[in-house]
Amino acid sequence: MTTTFPSDTAPPQPPLLAVRGLDVAFPRGAGWLHAVRGVSFDIHRGETLGLVGESGSGKSLTAFGVIGLVPAPGRTTGGAVLLDGRDLAGLSELEWCGVRGRRIGFVFQEPMTALDPVHTVGTQIAEVLAVHGLARGREALERAIALLDDVAMPEPSLAARAYPHQLSGGMRQRAMIAIALAGDPDLLIADEPTTALDVTVQAQILDLLRLLKARRRLALLLITHDLGVVAQMADRVAVMYGGRVVETSGVRELFATPRHPYTRGLLESVPGGSAGARLVAIDGVVPALDAMPAGCAFTPRCGERLARCGDDPPPAFDVGAAHQSRCWLHDAARVDRGLRP
Ligand SMILES: Nc1ncnc2c1ncn2[C@@H]1O[C@H](COP(=O)(O)OP(=O)(O)OP(=O)(O)O)[C@@H](O)[C@H]1O
Ligand code: SF4
Ligand SMILES: [Mg+2]
Repeated sequence: MTTTFPSDTAPPQPPLLAVRGLDVAFPRGAGWLHAVRGVSFDIHRGETLGLVGESGSGKSLTAFGVIGLVPAPGRTTGGAVLLDGRDLAGLSELEWCGVRGRRIGFVFQEPMTALDPVHTVGTQIAEVLAVHGLARGREALERAIALLDDVAMPEPSLAARAYPHQLSGGMRQRAMIAIALAGDPDLLIADEPTTALDVTVQAQILDLLRLLKARRRLALLLITHDLGVVAQMADRVAVMYGGRVVETSGVRELFATPRHPYTRGLLESVPGGSAGARLVAIDGVVPALDAMPAGCAFTPRCGERLARCGDDPPPAFDVGAAHQSRCWLHDAARVDRGLRP
């Protein structure tokens, strides 16, 4: 007799966030320059997805597309963003208020530009609590101090009365995280949350994110160009290049058996993916948006390119369990002809 465990029969949990074919573009002349092209990924509750790629690969615009804040004149030109299965396209501004800050919190790379310089940190947290109808007045300020304590801010009641310029870089980033968590979101999007910080403070902020994630069962979309951060923090990874996700996989598999030539190049250029390692060591640069090849964006830099690569965009091929790579080298027809996968 076989024993059936509940997990054998329970339907798989739907993703908290499902991004499907997201396209973000800027107007240029009579047409559009596509900065994010057909980006798809899932994030489940309690999971960290590392979105990694060189500068200009489209990471931040992907995040802005998810929260419906693509900077004008850019706009989302295609695809869907589903939160718990609900399509966010077409939400009214009022409905977005119930999503941004409430279901999805975000932390930006440079806290000085994201924090309001003329209000104290405590007031800014209290404002978020009030906007979402969670607390007002004195209670909101008390909860603000408790949130600052949660993010391990030294002297939380003093910090609540401080203006952003009175705090150190690390403390400002903690304040940003407290603001992002004030609405008790299910998903936190952190765009390069440690890039502007020195190495010791970086490690402290990453530890804090890990702790908060476990304590609050948060899902985390962690945007970075630091492979060391990905190795330490992510459960799954999506590698972006030229506006597309070129490889997705579990983090261990990605580091053990990277399949896309771009990912392989990245990992070869930073042995062990050590913390602080930056993605700059592959020859050449990411093509400008108006000079992207019609096919695979990596063609000009790829040592393994095939005749079709420049003109024909490769689809995502399944190359392992929950592992996909967008490269013509995996094409079954080619493998059938005895050529190297
Ligand atoms: N407002 C804008 N107008 C025109 N092009 C833009 C605008 N914002 C971004 N882009 C272009 O879109 C592309 C993707 O930008 P994005 O900011 O998403 O990159 P990123 O991966 O976040 O880079 P970084 O690591 O430097 O933050 C880049 O080529 C960038 O030049
Ligand atoms: S599709 Fe072609 S150019 Fe692109 S990564 Fe694969 S081999 Fe290189
Ligand atoms: Mg960015």
